[in-house]
Amino acid sequence: MTSPSSSKVINTARVMDPASNLLDELYTRADNPDTPSDVRATVGKALELVETREEYSRKMTYPDTPGARMICEKTYAMPWKQLYQDSKVGTQYSARWMSGIGEGQILQFLIRMQKAKRVLEIGMFTGYVAMSMAEALPEDGAVVTCEYEPYLVETARKWFDETPFGKRIDIRQGPALDSLDKLATEGQTFDVVYLDADKQTYTAYFKKLLDLGLLAEGGTLVVDNSLFHGSPYTQPGSMVDLFNKAVMDDDRVEQILMPIFDGVSLIRRKGE
Ligand SMILES: C[S@@+](CC[C@H](N)C(=O)[O-])C[C@H]1O[C@@H](n2cnc3c(N)ncnc32)[C@H](O)[C@@H]1O
Repeated sequence: MTSPSSSKVINTARVMDPASNLLDELYTRADNPDTPSDVRATVGKALELVETREEYSRKMTYPDTPGARMICEKTYAMPWKQLYQDSKVGTQYSARWMSGIGEGQILQFLIRMQKAKRVLEIGMFTGYVAMSMAEALPEDGAVVTCEYEPYLVETARKWFDETPFGKRIDIRQGPALDSLDKLATEGQTFDVVYLDADKQTYTAYFKKLLDLGLLAEGGTLVVDNSLFHGSPYTQPGSMVDLFNKAVMDDDRVEQILMPIFDGVSLIRRKGE
């Protein structure tokens, strides 16, 4: 019998939290004649409920907008393993690198609530959230998105340009810290920023966004994976824990860490 967690639904990232992982382990270990069958069944039910909760929330959230849906489908259809074997990409990517459904919708809500016109993404991958944001912006709005993998930049550019929203998206290729320096030199500021790149650099991105004035006063920084697989609360001093603490200790911002998905933080720059 397979574990209940093996049934996957497209673009619902199963959160790898330590409590569910322990339940998974218990479910496997309970598969022996010494464990009463109702114990294993109960653990299985608990695991199923974790998935049902996610699935239900997804169904009760408005669906992806058309451009984001197109990118999601194309991302799942990509031969990621082959691309890596052929050295087209330098990392073994998979469709699971894409932000899950719900993240794009949160960004779209925020853009509309804040009447944002300029948004920045750090960590584009195939452009799912960049496109979601472009679809929510007004006609004169713009998305700048940072990605260092050339193949992804080329692919996303092609997909963006298949939609009427592509012209709103400016991709900056290269290490994102360098792109942030360049954007600051150009005098750019952003109403909404979405951070979803290498976790070890989160604190450096956060400091740069504030120190260089890239995050506008009253602007919002949305951070994905702020509960990164449970590490901040199971391993004090781990990189995302240090990032969360740096945010807590910074008087320039106020923040909420929401225990949804793999942790999503909303960080508002004070001032407006
Ligand atoms: C989790 S994915 C982003 C998912 C994306 N936000 C979406 O909408 O699906 C993280 C991406 O960040 C990129 N990345 C990681 N470190 C980076 C860096 N230092 N500079 C630029 N891009 C980086 C990776 O290549 C990867 O494509």
